[in-house]
Amino acid sequence: MLSCAFAGLAIVSLLLQTSHAAVLQARLSQSLNPYPNKPRVTFAADGTFKITVFSDLHYGENAWDVWGPQQDVNSTALMNKVLPDEKPDYVVLNGDLITGENGFKENATVYIDQIVGPLNKLKIPFSSTHGNHDNQANISHIEEIIREQHDAPLSYTRTAPPGIGGPSGPGTYWVPVYANKKASKPSLILWFFDSQGGFSEGANEPLPDWVDDTVAGWIEEQTAMMDAAWGPAAQNRGALVFVHIPPHAIQQVQTTLDNTTNPGLNDDFLGEGSTQATSDPANNGKDQVFWDALNTHVKNIHAVISGHDHGNEWCAREPTKNVIFCFDKHSGYGGYSSATWGHGVRNVVFQSTKPQDSIQTWIRLEEGETRARVTLDKNYQ
Ligand SMILES: *[C@@H]1O[C@H](CO)[C@@H](O)[C@H](O)[C@H]1NC(C)=O
Ligand SMILES: *[C@@H]1O[C@H](CO)[C@@H](O)[C@H](O)[C@H]1NC(C)=O
Ligand SMILES: *[C@@H]1O[C@H](CO)[C@@H](O)[C@H](O)[C@H]1NC(C)=O
Ligand SMILES: *[C@@H]1O[C@H](CO)[C@@H](O)[C@H](O)[C@H]1NC(C)=O
Repeated sequence: MLSCAFAGLAIVSLLLQTSHAAVLQARLSQSLNPYPNKPRVTFAADGTFKITVFSDLHYGENAWDVWGPQQDVNSTALMNKVLPDEKPDYVVLNGDLITGENGFKENATVYIDQIVGPLNKLKIPFSSTHGNHDNQANISHIEEIIREQHDAPLSYTRTAPPGIGGPSGPGTYWVPVYANKKASKPSLILWFFDSQGGFSEGANEPLPDWVDDTVAGWIEEQTAMMDAAWGPAAQNRGALVFVHIPPHAIQQVQTTLDNTTNPGLNDDFLGEGSTQATSDPANNGKDQVFWDALNTHVKNIHAVISGHDHGNEWCAREPTKNVIFCFDKHSGYGGYSSATWGHGVRNVVFQSTKPQDSIQTWIRLEEGETRARVTLDKNYQ
């Protein structure tokens, strides 16, 4: 009897272990295949991969005046001009999609419909980060994300698991890019981080303006999982990182720019509020936990790309982590600007699927002029 009961228990326990393993396996394959119902994002047939970045679109300013809606008409026209010319394989909307300060509770996210219109029309896969202006009294990052997911069949924007990113920073995720539709593992990972900022919905309290500490453990876990399934990143995978507010370390980089290596506008002095964790001096440098984890665990980072400071376009190497940083180009007719800055996009082109090969990047203005072209690789300063 007894031994029989023990045998029964052993079987139950074995079954439990097997089903537990099966559940873990299912969870693992789901987390490594986060878009089972969407087409795979792949390199083009010639082995290149082109990303066009729209940043700081700032839709929705002063809906009650003529100039606000006219700005949005202009920004949509810019997207409709640039996209068919550039024919990107992927588009990134790198934060501050909407100037939330001017929104009404009942329809604040309506502008997402306008923003994704040109991308839907041309069937271009894309995803978004969100900025300080996307978290305001009548709007939040999560509301914009839900609206985008609802509006756009080719949106790859996701949210972090519960508890990761802080309550005002849900938009942290990665997107795998494969060499082709049949590849067994991705060649490139696009990483997207939510740098929070702005004000809490309803209460209108200032929010932390940096990537939350909880993201550090998530990066470590995700990269370990990728390594286990796909082999070590160093030989197998490149990475490109998007986050709306530049990391705090970039403030110091501005003091050492040189116009040959770091071409492009440099008209925005990086002071309070211009990089992560600087709006309130008491929080200075609080993005360090994220910055350390990112640069420790994510290998082959080609660049970290941010918007937020509309008057800057340069790329430069950040010496403490030995990682390249690039500003976007201000795309929207909304948001602060200067008559001489112009509007446009940053293009990024991967020339091969090899994780250590150089990439090209440059600014393209609305009318087609290009500038600030640089090749990014280990020799770039
Ligand atoms: C819209 O764009 C035109 C030029 O393309 C510009 O002259 C005009 O000032 C812009 N309007 C607004 C409201 O930004
Ligand atoms: C938020 O929306 C409500 C309802 O439309 C409006 O009355 C209020 O003025 C808005 N709040 C802000 C801060 O814009
Ligand atoms: C949003 O709501 C406000 C206030 O109810 C209204 O005046 C405005 O026209 C609406 N905007 C859009 C784009 O529907
Ligand atoms: C490089 O020079 C141009 C033209 O003088 C200027 O607009 C830009 O701000 C400079 N960029 C840097 C990074 O110093």
